[in-house]
Amino acid sequence: MSKRMKAVFASVAVAGVGGIWAAQGGSGSLPNLFPFANEAGVLETRNTNGTALDLTGPFFQSLGTNGRTCETCHRAAQGWGTSADEIKRRFEQTQGTDPIFRTNDGSNCDHNIDTSTVGGRRKAYSLLTDKGLIRVTVDVPANAEFNVIGVLNPYGCNEPVTLSMYRRPLPTTNLRFLSTVMWDGRESSTQTGTQKITFATNPADLLADLTHQAVDATNGHAQASVPLTPAQAQAIVDFEMSLSTAQAVHFKAGPLDANGAKGGPVELSTVTTPAFFVGINDPLGGNPHGTAFTPAIFDLFSAWTGSSPSEDGGASVRRASIARGQALFNSKPILIQGVAGLNDDLNVASIPGTCGTCHDSPNVGNHSVSAPLNIGVSDSSSSLNLKYLPVIKLQNKVTGEIRTTTDPGRAMITGQWKDVGRFKGPILRGLASRAPYFHNGSADTLEDVIDFYNKRFNVGITPQEKKDLVAFLKAL
Ligand code: HEC
Ligand code: HEC
Repeated sequence: MSKRMKAVFASVAVAGVGGIWAAQGGSGSLPNLFPFANEAGVLETRNTNGTALDLTGPFFQSLGTNGRTCETCHRAAQGWGTSADEIKRRFEQTQGTDPIFRTNDGSNCDHNIDTSTVGGRRKAYSLLTDKGLIRVTVDVPANAEFNVIGVLNPYGCNEPVTLSMYRRPLPTTNLRFLSTVMWDGRESSTQTGTQKITFATNPADLLADLTHQAVDATNGHAQASVPLTPAQAQAIVDFEMSLSTAQAVHFKAGPLDANGAKGGPVELSTVTTPAFFVGINDPLGGNPHGTAFTPAIFDLFSAWTGSSPSEDGGASVRRASIARGQALFNSKPILIQGVAGLNDDLNVASIPGTCGTCHDSPNVGNHSVSAPLNIGVSDSSSSLNLKYLPVIKLQNKVTGEIRTTTDPGRAMITGQWKDVGRFKGPILRGLASRAPYFHNGSADTLEDVIDFYNKRFNVGITPQEKKDLVAFLKAL
């Protein structure tokens, strides 16, 4: 990478993509496939509706009262999400005054805090700078099957009626593949006046949900006093829907679409309906065409299988590793046990599966049907370090059973006991740009993600397999 490019990448942190491109003499648009560096290589976005990305639309405008735009938390350089590292840099560069640092949902809690000094702000926004977490507040549903009998929030937000939960922004790209909007699906739920996403109603359901979401995000995150106009909401959804984002270059393996491979955003942008549809490749009867499930979820790097190290010194070694990682994702046996949303709903104690049983959408990796699952990421008993999160104690109104969790997830929308700790299976593209991982940022790295699965399901992943899986995930 040239020095100039490196300077560009560094300054993106504060200026945001619009500011930086304008500072380089660019106009209000970003060229398609503009290279954003990350630790693994280069990430790119393609706008399928044009040759460039318009950076002047409402997505990039301050439409509320606190200076925030959608881009405050959904940044091109971070795969249209955020990374904790970038937020930390933003804090240092602005001394904690960038609009992401606002107390409505950016601070750990919004009472008994002092944001008048840099030191005060550093403390108040520590979850944002350390883990990239936004405070999401949801009221306990009126007819919930449980009572909240205790909240131990280390930052003071202990209200049992309105729970504070801490979540990572989801990327606003590759959205045509979504089968549910938000970690807990709340923007695709009758409870919130939005629609469940189904094969029969797609894509109208998704478009309606995203429109609703854009209005909610402006009212909430940006503290708007006047809601978005329908035209503004429409422009935001059109913009989001036009984006395809993926890792394009791996520093050691080279371009991810070289030598027959199909990585990168250009190839991804060609995957549209009918190549993708809600329910595609679902292993549990959700496929509307009834086609048999294939565990071969990803085939992007099949052409690199067994690449010989002598070919081009270095790159082939890495290509072979990425291809092995893909094969492991597709085939390494995982015995799925104790996952709410699978084992309980199907009434099967053990389901022989793979990564792709849950990440079943071909070459995208999200769950192709709405299927909130509890794999244990928010459970207080998780092997992940969740010490920085609240401990929320719930009691079932009928059975008296007690559960402790750091985030009840889907249950806060449906009120159902069985939904405690359930979250959607997210899209797995552009991962290298947006650490940490999982809804609560509890996996600092992709290595940590693999360690979690290895322990949670006793997978028996060897150190070499872990390396290969991580190389593969970083190439997505
Ligand atoms: C202060 C940070 C912040 C701002 C500003 C923000 N978002 Fe988000 N966004 C988040 C977080 C956090 C989530 C995930 C929350 C959850 O699931 O509970 C999210 C989720 C989303 C999703 C869901 C994607 C998916 O896979 O389900 C979309 C779409 C989205 N935001 C669009 C927008 C738009 C449009 C705007 C501007 C109007 C915006 N956001 C402003 C933090 C932000
Ligand atoms: C039993 C279902 C299931 C299996 C099996 C599974 N996942 Fe997941 N995966 C999920 C769910 C659900 C989430 C979201 C969890 C959360 O954040 O609470 C997730 C999240 C992730 C994330 C984080 C993405 C992000 O944006 O934060 C990665 C990476 C991931 N999975 C990779 C894998 C890999 C690799 C395997 C195989 C070793 C695997 N998964 C196996 C269901 C599953």
